[in-house]
Amino acid sequence: MADYDASTLLVDRNLALELVRVTEAAALAASRWIGRGDKNAADGAAVDAMRKAFDTVAISGTVVIGEGEMDEAPMLYIGEKIGLGGPEVDIAVDPLEGTSITAKGGPNAIATVALAERGGFLHAPDIYMDKVAVGPGLPEGIVHLDARPEENLRELARAKKCDIGDLLVCTLDRDRHQDMIAACRKAGARIMLLGDGDVAGVIAVSQPSTGVDIYMGSGGAPEGVLAAAALRCIGGQMQGRLMFENEEQVSRAREMGVTDPKRIYGIYEMARGNVMFAATGVTGGPMLRGVQRSAGGAMTHSIVMRSKSGTVRYVEAHHNFARKPAAFVA
Ligand code: FBP
Repeated sequence: MADYDASTLLVDRNLALELVRVTEAAALAASRWIGRGDKNAADGAAVDAMRKAFDTVAISGTVVIGEGEMDEAPMLYIGEKIGLGGPEVDIAVDPLEGTSITAKGGPNAIATVALAERGGFLHAPDIYMDKVAVGPGLPEGIVHLDARPEENLRELARAKKCDIGDLLVCTLDRDRHQDMIAACRKAGARIMLLGDGDVAGVIAVSQPSTGVDIYMGSGGAPEGVLAAAALRCIGGQMQGRLMFENEEQVSRAREMGVTDPKRIYGIYEMARGNVMFAATGVTGGPMLRGVQRSAGGAMTHSIVMRSKSGTVRYVEAHHNFARKPAAFVA
């Protein structure tokens, strides 16, 4: 508490709550598209609503993890300047994490945002990232991306003083994970397979109520940075390595500041300094309830957290559309 003054503290605190408004707006808009079989429409609605909501936030923000390059994405593109004006910050967004989930009405879709001081986030290109993550309170370096799955499980079981059979591994249900899944099963661990949504999957390691002990596997690199920001706030360890498929991706990443394509990034290299993270449930999952719509309104459930204080807040908001400005009525 002693290392910053009261005005900074107030700005930080207010900003964190402003971020929830941004994710609420995206989730409310996306919720209209739950189960309607159109993932692009769901994503578009979330992007549009999130972009408008940022117009009311007192920051001078630069999108560093966004919807794509300027020529691919009309809004929330990489490099876009957002906010009303205020502290210079970098922004990572995924207005709808789980577009297919939303289109199918499945579990675990969220609208999410993270904020860091300028230069705080790894500028991750839109490629895959190999990830491993565990929750708080474990010896530093207990798991490693280069270790075999069974080695990570053995070390984790030892640190948690349990059997490997007590451990629950979370990963995306993808063919590319077959060998890793087989190795975990052979070692005796249990597996939770996600259809989509590895931001929530990684965060699950830090929430005892989910039962998840370790996240392993590859998913989007931008999602990796968002998950790292969340774990910086709530606690836990994570490593990530970009997975390049061709030389073009490597040179694009170099332009974005990636100097060593084989580098394993620690959590502080993906999300440095003071960071904030917010997410609102679109469809329900173990961490957040989904949007519940009713006549003239809706209920949203969000999480917001700051690395500086370590405070984790859950926000249940009851929205009355009759009293909201038009831009926020989803
Ligand atoms: P979208 O919201 O863009 O559909 O992403 C969902 C997701 O499951 C992410 O959580 C994950 O990082 C990525 O897709 C994995 O990609 P893939 O489906 O190609 O394995």
